[in-house]
Amino acid sequence: MDDIEKTKKKEEEAKEQKAFSNNDSRLKEEIRQSLIKDLEKKVDDGVDGEVTEEMVDELMAQFWKAKEETLEKFLKKKRREEKRALEGVEKQEETFTRFGLNFRIQHMTLFTSVLLLIFTGMPEKFHEAGISGFIINALGGIKVITILHRIGAVGLSAMFAYHCTIYTIFFRQGRRDFVELLPMPKDLFDVIQMIKYFFGLSKERPKFGRFSYIEKFDYWAVYWGCMVMIGSGVIMWFEVESINLFGKVVVDIAKEAHSDEGLLCALAILIWHFYNVHLNPRVFPMSWVWWNGKLTKDEMLEEHPLEYERIMEKKETKS
Ligand code: HEM
Repeated sequence: MDDIEKTKKKEEEAKEQKAFSNNDSRLKEEIRQSLIKDLEKKVDDGVDGEVTEEMVDELMAQFWKAKEETLEKFLKKKRREEKRALEGVEKQEETFTRFGLNFRIQHMTLFTSVLLLIFTGMPEKFHEAGISGFIINALGGIKVITILHRIGAVGLSAMFAYHCTIYTIFFRQGRRDFVELLPMPKDLFDVIQMIKYFFGLSKERPKFGRFSYIEKFDYWAVYWGCMVMIGSGVIMWFEVESINLFGKVVVDIAKEAHSDEGLLCALAILIWHFYNVHLNPRVFPMSWVWWNGKLTKDEMLEEHPLEYERIMEKKETKS
């Protein structure tokens, strides 16, 4: 705004102010006259007392004070409401639903069962370690540990069965995500691009769609892990029947596979998965998507820019 505009604005404001105070004094005068008339009428009607300028002045002062106070109160209220409405709009950041409730419940069942399985399986595998003895005793002995391990096993097996036979087949979101999770040549190029980026050979990170190669790896590692752990676990759970059915060699292989894959699974979760979803500085202390299923616009642009573009294009063609 240049100087001429500023002076013009100031002049207009002064004019407005003048008109306002003129209006105010006119109003004051009108009220004053009505009061005088009213009081004189009452005196004529025989009401005691003298109609004096003093009385009218006092009434006017009281009325004006009340008027100013009421005006101030209402203006304050209005300003407060406007401020709140503005803050509400600012706080209502645009969010995108990444995972629905169904998927989130599956994930919660998965991680509680798996943590329980790791926490009870490891002390069995490394039973000579001092910490294992401590955990086993703290939980009430080896019998309790094996019961807890079986509870975790039922949780994991139920979740996996539901995911494969119901969610992936009968739910639109499940079918769509399954297809999106299939490895594609782009994933290989993304890995190469990411390595270049890490070594400073490229300034750009790869752009991901709904699932990055990291998330795809997570998914298929769990898929494979479940098949091995549930398969070998059932064989161990029903050891006698399994020996009769498949022979001792198969049961021994199952035990070895269960024990080693269990350790691999624990390390993959505690190192790879925990780094990606908790410790990575991009999400630290953790990504809350497992709880509320939502990502902000910034997170979408950062982690899934190609999916964001696709959503926006869809919105535009719809409107
Ligand atoms: C992420 C999943 C799992 C992990 C990390 C895990 C880990 C382990 C480990 C480390 C052991 C001790 C092996 C050893 O002594 O060398 C074990 C034992 C065992 N696991 Fe698992 N396990 C998992 C899932 C399952 C499932 C799904 C079942 C059953 C369907 C199962 C049934 C068993 C049984 C029967 C044993 C023998 C000891 C016992 O009776 O508790 N596990 N598991």
